[in-house]
Amino acid sequence: MKSVVFYNNKGGVGKTTFAVHCALRAAVHHRLRTVAIGLDRQGDILRWISGGEVWVGDGTVHQHSPNLTVIYSPNQQPNLRLSADLAVMDSSPSLALAGSVRTDLVVVPVDGRLALDDLQNALPDLIESQAKLLVVINRADAGGTRTLAALKRACAKVPKLTVWSHPVPDSPAIKRAAEYYRPVWDVPYGETSEGNKIMKALCDDILRTLGLGGHR
Ligand SMILES: Nc1ncnc2c1ncn2[C@@H]1O[C@H](COP(=O)(O)OP(=O)(O)OP(=O)(O)O)[C@@H](O)[C@H]1O
Ligand SMILES: [Mg+2]
Repeated sequence: MKSVVFYNNKGGVGKTTFAVHCALRAAVHHRLRTVAIGLDRQGDILRWISGGEVWVGDGTVHQHSPNLTVIYSPNQQPNLRLSADLAVMDSSPSLALAGSVRTDLVVVPVDGRLALDDLQNALPDLIESQAKLLVVINRADAGGTRTLAALKRACAKVPKLTVWSHPVPDSPAIKRAAEYYRPVWDVPYGETSEGNKIMKALCDDILRTLGLGGHR
């Protein structure tokens, strides 16, 4: 089983948004057997993937569809005995937790300068782990290209770290996705949005990085 954890020690940067889309893209579009895990006390990934239907408490498990199970396991990585292709983990901002998670890939959303500076503090611990690191600029406005260039310079010397080549735009459709508890491709005017196009490309690149092309 391959695994990816979405992490930043800053809150509100898009961890849950990316994790939800990655899990749904893997399970629904690529038909990979996927387990989504809410390591975050808030349980947002469960609430979102269940369409707001599930009351989230310790040990809650939700079966979204045959290929997608969602588990609420705040603050510790569950000992999975499930035969799945992929585990998608939505981490809390706790560095202690993220440092303890066994994973193949850490995806770090950053939303601009503050998150970038904040990330510098967490990098040494993240680099100690065996996982690959992928930094993704999220909610980029017109300054996104400048931030991307600065980020690439800052990260160039860090081994194992890649900066994703497109900033994810500040997208009304992605915003609606959170409000509807649905993926962006499933909300009104979502399918044709730029946010949807980039989100799908991001999810597919993450799966490819893990060696999971899936079936289209
Ligand atoms: N690209 C985007 N375009 C528009 N809105 C976005 C985008 N990415 C995230 N958001 C919105 O930003 C808010 C924070 O996103 P999200 O909940 O994914 O962050 P988080 O890192 O999981 O936060 P927390 O630290 O609280 O768990 C949400 O309302 C979400 O809908
Ligand atoms: Mg979250």
